[in-house]
Amino acid sequence: MSHHKALITGGSSGIGLDLARRLAGEGTHLVIASLIKEEVASASANLKKDFPNINVEAIHMDLSVASEVNRLVDLCNEKHQDIDLLVNNAGYGLYGNFKTLSLERQLNMVDLHIKSVMKLSYELLNLKSFPALKSIINLSSISAFQPNPRFATYGASKAFLYNWSRSLAEELIAMKRNIHVLTVCPTPVRTQFQENADMGKSKLYDSWLTIEVGTVTKDIMRALKRRKKMIVPGRRFHMLHKVVSRFPESWRIFLSKDALKEKRG
Ligand SMILES: NC(=O)c1ccc[n+]([C@@H]2O[C@H](COP(=O)([O-])OP(=O)(O)OC[C@H]3O[C@@H](n4cnc5c(N)ncnc54)[C@H](OP(=O)(O)O)[C@@H]3O)[C@@H](O)[C@H]2O)c1
Repeated sequence: MSHHKALITGGSSGIGLDLARRLAGEGTHLVIASLIKEEVASASANLKKDFPNINVEAIHMDLSVASEVNRLVDLCNEKHQDIDLLVNNAGYGLYGNFKTLSLERQLNMVDLHIKSVMKLSYELLNLKSFPALKSIINLSSISAFQPNPRFATYGASKAFLYNWSRSLAEELIAMKRNIHVLTVCPTPVRTQFQENADMGKSKLYDSWLTIEVGTVTKDIMRALKRRKKMIVPGRRFHMLHKVVSRFPESWRIFLSKDALKEKRG
């Protein structure tokens, strides 16, 4: 299924930007909303240069702030009622112990990963002016599947998103709304995320669990077309998840703790 216009939060970098490029390649117009003005402007300029037939609207806003999410909803209602794909992708990580990380940054993360996603999805699902909405993609993480010491708030917010997104998918099927919801749970992906989360100290991104952004977005596009409900990108990681999810919780905590250890030396 192809889409006419996509709203991608966090569409200026990493997974969001690569997905924007793939969608633009299929003729989908874009609205991207991200935090840093210069990043959004540069992503938008490059997209317009590479895909001259595609309309790109780029907005910079802090989506962890409720009034900013309202501003985005108003803008969509005024100018982009033809959005038929919503990609809830904006996010960041914070590596470290709950007790020592900034509480404010952790609460902002919860607002961004949970409240803004709920608000945006609710409004686009309920506004009369959005009859076109066909698909929603929610970026969760493999952190959703077990407790994650040193990544506690991040993992817990992605666990919320995972469960909420999977439930929403089933509710919309039961309501015969014909809106497909895809939940995406990547293993570590090399993007700006790693540096922003201060994960250089951890050994996670040096491990065999890491996947390239192009593989993630290729799998998302395939899953979107096949109306899959949930993917762990990378075939071997999808299989691995099926096996690991059967392990006792204490084993899964052990594995997560080990993966999130600090590097030696
Ligand atoms: N990379 C990984 O290892 C990994 C693994 C599993 C899941 N994920 C999830 O995948 C999604 C995309 O991550 P990524 O790897 O592509 O990271 P990324 O390259 O750092 O991109 C994150 C995007 O989110 C935007 N963003 C961050 N805070 C925002 C805010 N308060 N308001 C608006 N936009 C904000 C950023 O905007 P600016 O660039 O303007 O700051 C950027 O466009 C996230 O939800 C992440 O949790 C990532």
